[in-house]
Amino acid sequence: MTEKLSAPRGTRDLYGEEMARFEAIETLARAAFSSMGYQQIRTPIFESRSLFERSVGDETDIVKKELYVFRDRKDRELALRPEGTAGVVRAYIERNMGAAGGVTKLWYSGPMFRYERPQGGRYRQFYQLGCELFGAKSAMADVEVAGLAIKILATLKINARLKINFIGCEACRRAYAESIRAFFAAKKEKLCPDCIVRLERNPLRVLDCKVETCRAERAGAPAIALCETCSAQYAEIRQGLSEMKIEYVEDASMVRGLDYYTGFVFEAVSENLGAQDAVLGGGRYDGLVAQMGGPPTPAVGFAIGMDRLASLVAADIRVVGPFLLVIGLGAQNQWGAMDLARRLRAASVVGGTGSVECALSEKSLKAQLKDADRRGFPFVAILGDGERERGVVTIRDMKSGEQKEIATGVADDELAAGVRRSLLA
Ligand code: HAM
Repeated sequence: MTEKLSAPRGTRDLYGEEMARFEAIETLARAAFSSMGYQQIRTPIFESRSLFERSVGDETDIVKKELYVFRDRKDRELALRPEGTAGVVRAYIERNMGAAGGVTKLWYSGPMFRYERPQGGRYRQFYQLGCELFGAKSAMADVEVAGLAIKILATLKINARLKINFIGCEACRRAYAESIRAFFAAKKEKLCPDCIVRLERNPLRVLDCKVETCRAERAGAPAIALCETCSAQYAEIRQGLSEMKIEYVEDASMVRGLDYYTGFVFEAVSENLGAQDAVLGGGRYDGLVAQMGGPPTPAVGFAIGMDRLASLVAADIRVVGPFLLVIGLGAQNQWGAMDLARRLRAASVVGGTGSVECALSEKSLKAQLKDADRRGFPFVAILGDGERERGVVTIRDMKSGEQKEIATGVADDELAAGVRRSLLA
């Protein structure tokens, strides 16, 4: 017997209802990004492994345990991208995007890969929608970016809480690393083997280890003590958020799971998501561009988890749904129906917010109306022998059953206007 094929663990096919939600989210987000001057970028789905080790950090779970690594035929070590920022930073440097000075604003959308244990809202192939803003170091940029993230959620009517923290400059983080080491010194042996190494190399990473015992041991861990400059920057951001009417809660224990953050960090969480409650995450990473070989460049960005967001949006969010189905009765009216559908689309009968489709079927009227109903069309257009002889088409409201005849021997615009009027009546 042949082996039954199935999608790899932690992956799934996006289609039907879920795909429609993804599409709607991306359409609305695209409009939000464009309205603020962000341009789309598509970077490769795989990059050199070292890119992620050097940016996300080789002590992070994402790189240490979750990276999909492979060698190509020339023995190059590559990895599927676990997130979008590293590739965008690589592109920013390689394409010299900052050469003209000023700010560079980019957005992206696409699949990311992490070898995590799959569970509700956590996949091995998942999708992010994100943006990166390069070249602005003021608190206004932090507020603009966090505001944009929240605006996208609000447009989708998602009720999510913005959590913020500030993880400080290098000096603050160095001092913080010491106090974390001191805090865990007495209970080192209760941590997982990875965290014992982390405590030496990168103590902040102990704070986002997913192992249950490590989670328990970090209760009561100290919060970061910020230097004067960092405190002032954080205060300015909080004030900016309030002025822009963006609600937030402070979470002094939030460190984020990636090494590149240098100051303001944020996440949005939803109570409707269960254990994997973060719908988006982001923050400032002023050191990364220089660290990766580019000119010193301040930067801030975020990424939304599309899979989680899609599970939160209302089922009726779709932007383009079925609208008008053109039915030709009998073989002799099929091409006429197809031509009518073409003319109505050409004249933008519903302005791009719904589909106008030809039924492509010779079944009886009864059977086709049943199909139209099952597929959710609110209206159908019927072309039978009688209609063809009279030079009309019948428009039927599927809900009320009401029917109207519209003349077809007119210009396309007039035909579309006639159909629209009959729908409104
Ligand atoms: P992140 O917090 O690792 O940040 O991921 C952002 C979002 O991606 C999460 O809040 C979550 O919604 C979603 N996500 C992450 N892992 C999974 C998974 N296995 N399954 C489903 N959804 C997932 C970043 O990736 C940063 N690059 C964000 C950023 C951009 N910071 C600055 N610029």
